[in-house]
Amino acid sequence: MSPIFCDDIQEGLQGVLRDISFDKLFVLLDEQTEKLCFPLVQVSDAHIIRIKFGDSNKSIDTLCQVWQQLSDMGASRHSLLVNIGGGMLTDLGGFAAATFKRGIRYVNVPTTLLAMVDASVGGKTGVNFNGLKNEIGAFHSAQQVVINTHFLHTLDVPNRLSGYAEMIKHGLLSNTAHWAELMAFDWQRPDFAHLQDMVMRSVLIKQLIVEKDPHESGARKALNLGHTIGHALESFSFGQPRPLPHGYAVAFGMACELYLSFLKLGFPKDKLRQTVQYVKDNYGVFAFNCKHYDSLYALMTHDKKNTANIINFTLLAQIGDCRINQQASRDEIFECLDFYRESFGV
Ligand code: GLY
Repeated sequence: MSPIFCDDIQEGLQGVLRDISFDKLFVLLDEQTEKLCFPLVQVSDAHIIRIKFGDSNKSIDTLCQVWQQLSDMGASRHSLLVNIGGGMLTDLGGFAAATFKRGIRYVNVPTTLLAMVDASVGGKTGVNFNGLKNEIGAFHSAQQVVINTHFLHTLDVPNRLSGYAEMIKHGLLSNTAHWAELMAFDWQRPDFAHLQDMVMRSVLIKQLIVEKDPHESGARKALNLGHTIGHALESFSFGQPRPLPHGYAVAFGMACELYLSFLKLGFPKDKLRQTVQYVKDNYGVFAFNCKHYDSLYALMTHDKKNTANIINFTLLAQIGDCRINQQASRDEIFECLDFYRESFGV
């Protein structure tokens, strides 16, 4: 399955629905996508399920509400669920589909850049549990992903940049030309046609990686670049007045992990500096000091990517030359945090 790109959500979705047979159609929305996106989709005879917007609602409670409504409205194993929303909604809707009657089919219509280039593709579904992100979930791929590039124009800056961090990651994992193109993109004067073209290539990079290893036993771990330190920064920021959006945490995490790549695998210094500068120019800074290192380290030890409590990194020897299952000492990790603070002036 390759995602479908379209400029008109109605046309794109209708085309997909014509090719799938189902007895009943369900559409999952949140307050925002119901107001802004659903009016653009003329789907007749669809049963609507509404959930609350925001990561705090990515919970078992919300999941129960979706199961309940599917059940009340007579969904069967041959029903189809269409998820219209950002990553929180597509992850939760995907998990509801994975589990209802042991699995029904679903289509994702991602409405944020992060969901387009990452969450909606690759079959990772789930909800938060016990204070941990995506702790309960399953691999269950969407029948189809419909990407309406028109939505890119309507996103606010944090949403654009949050998704773009995952695109930078895909650039680092693929080749120098694509990475350089991403580093040259000017967010002060965004060229949307060019962005759209890069989004398409970015999704295909993820798609190729996921196809090789759908259940993340090897090659898919490449996609964790920037996420070991990124997730620690994201969780750490939840206790602060301004929590970090996921992609911002990944951008700062990538800056740290590229330094670790330089330290351990000789990743080129000029490319490290250029990436760090781009992140600094576009994402600003997230401040912490050396008193926070122990807490950040403890958060890294809880990462679900670890095996036997050993912190697991994905690092790069070069752009496009990725090494999974890399370890680093506590001192090396603290040196990365020093590098970050020095580079970002915090
Ligand atoms: N977000 C990383 C993955 O899909 O594997």
